Amino acid sequence: MSKTQSLTFARVPHSSPTPAAQRAELLKNPGFGRVFSDHMVTIKYSDADGWHDAKIGPRGTIPMDPAAAVLHYAQEIFEGLKAYRTGDGATLFRPRENAKRFQDSARRLAMPELPEDIFLEACDLLVNTDRDWIPDGDGSLYLRPFMFANEIFLGVKPSSNYLFSVIASSVGSYFKSGADAVSLWVSQEFTRAAPGGTGAAKCGGNYAASLLAQSEATRNGCDQVVFLDAVERKWVEELGGMNIFFVFDDGSMCTPPLGGTILPGVTRSSLLTLAKDKGIKVREEKYSYEQWKNDSKSGKLREAFACGTAAVVTPIGTVRAPEGEFRIGNGGPGIRTTELKSALVGIQRGTAADPHKWIHKVF
Ligand code: COI
Repeated sequence: MSKTQSLTFARVPHSSPTPAAQRAELLKNPGFGRVFSDHMVTIKYSDADGWHDAKIGPRGTIPMDPAAAVLHYAQEIFEGLKAYRTGDGATLFRPRENAKRFQDSARRLAMPELPEDIFLEACDLLVNTDRDWIPDGDGSLYLRPFMFANEIFLGVKPSSNYLFSVIASSVGSYFKSGADAVSLWVSQEFTRAAPGGTGAAKCGGNYAASLLAQSEATRNGCDQVVFLDAVERKWVEELGGMNIFFVFDDGSMCTPPLGGTILPGVTRSSLLTLAKDKGIKVREEKYSYEQWKNDSKSGKLREAFACGTAAVVTPIGTVRAPEGEFRIGNGGPGIRTTELKSALVGIQRGTAADPHKWIHKVF
């Protein structure tokens, strides 16, 4: 547990922020994760002093000793959430869920838990400061809170020092293909997470472990890798960086159940709620690759989509494996996928009512 529950943030404005014309150029077509705002939040932690030295200042490099623990043992966690321009203001979508998951990830990685309110204050402060970096239209300001171990020590143990930070990136769509639907590669050799491992934590290591399989997917002409479970190599788990849903001909839906190996996505949980609101029968249930193949071929499976903060709701059109490929539905966005996406995006962007009080107003 942290020793300090509330902090005062020092504010150091950027002495030469990006000129407005240059920023406008960057925001025209930002893509994903390459355009960064001017400021960043940092908060230090030590076992001796708890959370301290909270600051918002110019975005810049982080000096690090080559023996910093994260560089050797990968004690690192992160989050992803988006700020949306809504009229004259800006909002975040369910940021407390990210704060809680950040604490869950911290516990699993033997790191200190940042109090929820400090996490929220850090995000609000950055959005407020860099409000001009929130793109108009379909774009958003993607916040990336993260924390890593920076004790200078090569012994294998939980670090006694950490740095928490939040940076912000103006983003458009995650997938650059611009296709109506994405294609998936079914990883045969590699799995993402095993029972008892770190699959439910949002830690960099999980993503590092997915990269070789993701490269294989790219080599095979696919947008994303999809992983099967590590024990039976049978059950569909999740994609390289997003959860998955299936839609059937009787109108029902299912998504793989959480159970320690799957990331508990905020988008996933929001879609479960929105589906129930609409009276859709939705199950958190195991679904095998064999069944997926058969249901797609028989037409029982009508739609499938990927979901996550970065991906939002992205239709899945084709699934490829060494033995061949199959198409889902008509290979493009299905009715249910489109309906759920617009329900979600409507709430996120303030164009629809917010019955669950998911919107957090920043300013
Ligand atoms: C997110 O959706 O926020 C993620 O962290 C996934 C990553 C692939 C960008």
